[in-house]
Amino acid sequence: MLEGKHILTGVTGGIAAYKTAAVIRLLVTKGAEVKVIMTEHAKKFVTPLTFATLSGNPVLTAFYNVENGDWNSHVDLGLWADLFLVAPATANTIAKMSAGIADNLLLTSYLSARCPVFVAPSMDMHMLAHHATTANIETLKAYGAMILEPTSGDLASGLSGKGRMMEPEDIVREITEFLKKKTSAS
Ligand SMILES: Cc1cc2nc3c(=O)[nH]c(=O)nc-3n(C[C@H](O)[C@H](O)[C@H](O)COP(=O)(O)O)c2cc1C
Repeated sequence: MLEGKHILTGVTGGIAAYKTAAVIRLLVTKGAEVKVIMTEHAKKFVTPLTFATLSGNPVLTAFYNVENGDWNSHVDLGLWADLFLVAPATANTIAKMSAGIADNLLLTSYLSARCPVFVAPSMDMHMLAHHATTANIETLKAYGAMILEPTSGDLASGLSGKGRMMEPEDIVREITEFLKKKTSAS
């Protein structure tokens, strides 16, 4: 169903990063080729080995390899992708994306991407409800990003409210339907 589709997945440092493993597994099962970029904070939550194994591709985390000078071209990644998914998207990364900050590989790839962008916010309910975050999400929407609405329920903070990352099956369904419509329209 997603055969031949290139999906670039950005993983940031939120507790829902473990759920992105299921997203990648489902995308690969549907035939997509998946490459994963992780922020430095994301690596504290899930190891790159998990995503490399599930995607079948090396995980990208840095601009270049300090050992040998090999560098990861964000421009090439941006051109490679048919769809860029950021899941989970922390308040921090959402703010940086909305401001055009480019201080890690995920952010430079976002700015370089020529494809549709999906963002799955995930955070504490009060962080999500803060004016700064709601304004940043609105900015991303205005720039054309599609927001995968967080759901309500128990949060890692122990509180209950809106801020849970959309469930993996629902994320993959949204992406699949979007790409299907895009293909039939072209
Ligand atoms: C245990 C723990 C859980 C966290 N969970 C979240 C989260 O779900 N959402 C969020 O926006 N920030 C969360 N944070 C804060 C981010 O890790 C922090 O803002 C970090 O700078 C994000 O960096 P990144 O966006 O570059 O990955 C958490 C921090 C800790 C220590």
